[in-house]
Amino acid sequence: TDPGRIRNFCIIAHIDHGKSTLADRMLQLTGVVDARQMRDQYLDRMDIERERGITIKSQAVRMPWTVREGDQQGEHAVLNMIDTPGHVDFTYEVSRSLAACEGAVLLVDAAQGIEAQTLANLYLALENDLHVIPVLNKIDLPAAQPDKYAEELAHLIGCRPEDCLRVSGKTGDGVPHLLDEIVRQFTPPTGDAAAPARAMIFDSVYDVYRGVVTYVRVIDGRIEARERIKMMSTGAVHELLELGVIAPEMEKAQALGVGEVGYLITGVKDVRQSRVGDTVTINSRPAKEALGGYKDPKPMVYSGLYPIDGSDYPDFRDALDRLKLNDAALHYEPESSAALGFGFRCGFLGLLHLEIIRERLEREFNLDLISTAPNVVYRVLMEDGTEVVVTNPSEYPTGKIAEVYEPVVRATVLTPNDYVGAVMELCQGRRGTLRGMDYLSADRVELRYTLPLAEIIYDFFDQLKSRTKGYASLDYEPSGEQMAELVKVDILLHGEAVDAFSAIVHKDKAYNYGVTIAAKLRSLIPRQQFEVPIQAAIGNRVIARETIRAIRKDVLAKCYGGDITRKRKLLEKQKEGKKRMKMVGRVEVPQEAFIAALSTS
Ligand code: GTP
Repeated sequence: TDPGRIRNFCIIAHIDHGKSTLADRMLQLTGVVDARQMRDQYLDRMDIERERGITIKSQAVRMPWTVREGDQQGEHAVLNMIDTPGHVDFTYEVSRSLAACEGAVLLVDAAQGIEAQTLANLYLALENDLHVIPVLNKIDLPAAQPDKYAEELAHLIGCRPEDCLRVSGKTGDGVPHLLDEIVRQFTPPTGDAAAPARAMIFDSVYDVYRGVVTYVRVIDGRIEARERIKMMSTGAVHELLELGVIAPEMEKAQALGVGEVGYLITGVKDVRQSRVGDTVTINSRPAKEALGGYKDPKPMVYSGLYPIDGSDYPDFRDALDRLKLNDAALHYEPESSAALGFGFRCGFLGLLHLEIIRERLEREFNLDLISTAPNVVYRVLMEDGTEVVVTNPSEYPTGKIAEVYEPVVRATVLTPNDYVGAVMELCQGRRGTLRGMDYLSADRVELRYTLPLAEIIYDFFDQLKSRTKGYASLDYEPSGEQMAELVKVDILLHGEAVDAFSAIVHKDKAYNYGVTIAAKLRSLIPRQQFEVPIQAAIGNRVIARETIRAIRKDVLAKCYGGDITRKRKLLEKQKEGKKRMKMVGRVEVPQEAFIAALSTS
C-alpha cells in the first residue's frame, strides 16, 4: 500500500467512556464487519474482557475508508486502528500502541467530562508526538453536556471548542464525519522505504494453533514472507512462516511496507521471544539501531498463590506455564508455606493484573486458589553494606538494617470541587505528599500526589470511590522509590510464626495490622485442649496479643450420653474436619481458617 494513503491511529479514553463501542461502529461503517457478524466489542476477544467490559490486550484492525465530504472527498484511505488497553496496570502497552500511530482520537464521555485516564492518556499521546482529535462521545444521552465539556476539553488541549467533534458510538451519529477527519487531520506515515527493515512490536499473543502472533508496525523498509527475521533486543533469529494484515480476521499478505500494520508468525511458542516494544529487522540485512522505547516489564506487586486442594499443585503449575506463554509480564516461582502448603510466589504489573490472572486460573483451568495479601518490592540496605531485594515478607533480613526503600507512584486524582477535602484526607492517611493542585474548570480539580505503591494496592481505589460518591478518578505511574520506616510484623500462634500472615508495613501502621489479624484469627481458630496465645510481633517485641481459651469439654459432652447415632455422627464430623487441619507447632488449625483470614483482609 502507498504510505500516503495510510492513517495509523488509536482511540484513547478513560475507562467506560465508550472506546470499544466506537471501534465497533467504525468496523461496521467501513464495511469490515457486517451487521450479521457484529457483536458488541468485536475486538475484545477474551471472555474475561467481554464480561468485565474492559480491554486487556491491544488489537489492530485495518479498515478501508472512502472520504465522504470535504476537499478530500472520494479519496480511498486505509485506516489502521490500534485498540489500546485502558487500565493503569497496562500503561506500558498503551504507550507502545501509541508509538505505532501518528494520531490519537481522544474520546471523552459527554455526560462525564475529563477523567484521570483522559489526562494520563493525553500526556502519553503528546509525549509520542501524536496529533490529537478531541471527540465528545455519547451525545445521545439525555444527560450529555457537550457544550460544557467542549469548553473543558478545548481548554486542556489548547484548541477551540468547535474543534471538538461530537459523536455517539451507540447510534453511529457523527462517526462518518470522524472517519473523514481522521484522514484529513492525521498525517500519513513517513519512513525510509529503501532502508533496512525496522518494525516495532506493539503486541504479541499466543494462539494454540499458530504459536505466537506478533503485531507490528513497519517504520522503515519492508518485511517479506519467508524471510528470516531478527529480534533486536535479544538477537534471536526466527523463520517467518507467514505475515499479513488483520481485517478484522487474519489475511495473508506478501509483504508489509512502510507505515503498514500487520502480524507476523514464526512458530515460536512463547511470547517472551517476541516482546512488546522490541524492534524486528531482517537477518540478511539488519538495521543498525533499534527503535527507542523498549522496556522489560517489571512486576510491581507480588502475592503467593496456593491451590486450596494440595493435589491440584501440578495442574496449577501447568496452568501458570500456559498463561505465561501469553503474558510476558507474569512472573512466578515455587514457594511453600507452613500454613498453605505448596504454591507459587507470583509477580504482577498491578492489582488488576493479579485479579485477572487469578480469575483466569480459576475459570479457564478450574482451580480453587487462595492468595496471600499482595506486597510490593522493597530494597533493604544492611549496615554491612549489602543489599537485599525483598519480594516476599519471609525474605526480610533479620540482621542490622540501615535503610529500607519502597516504590512510590505519581498519582493524579480528578475530583469535583466538593470532595477535595475527602480526597486529601485519604491521601494523607496513606502517607501521600501533595505535589500540586489545578482547577481544570470551576468545579473540577486535579490533585497530584506522590504515594507509596504499597498504600494504593490495597483498597485505595475503593476508598476513593466511596468517599467521592464515585466521582473521583485515579491514574498513577511508577516514580522511583523513597526511604521509609518499615517493619516486618510476624503473627505468632503459640509461639510459632505463621508465614502467610507476615507483612511489611509502615511502623505507624504495625500495631493496627497486628491487632486486626490477631483478632481475626482468634475468631476463626477453634479452641484446643490448651490455651493458645496469638501474638503480633516486630522482631522479639510483642505489639498485640489475643488468647484462644482451652476447651473444657469434648465434643461428645454435648450429647449428654443419649443418642448413639448422634454421637457417631459427631465423631465422623470431627474426623472429616481433621483431614484439612494444618499443624502450626502444636496447634491444629483448619486450613479454612487461614483462607478466611486471608480472603477478608
Ligand atoms: P474499556 O474498553 O474498558 O476501556 O471501556 P470502553 O471505553 O471501551 O467503553 P465501552 O465501549 O465498553 O462502553 C462503556 C459503556 O458505555 C457501555 O455500557 C456502552 O454501552 C456505553 N456506551 C458507549 N458508547 C455510548 C454512546 O455513544 N451512547 C450511549 N448512550 N452509551 C454508550
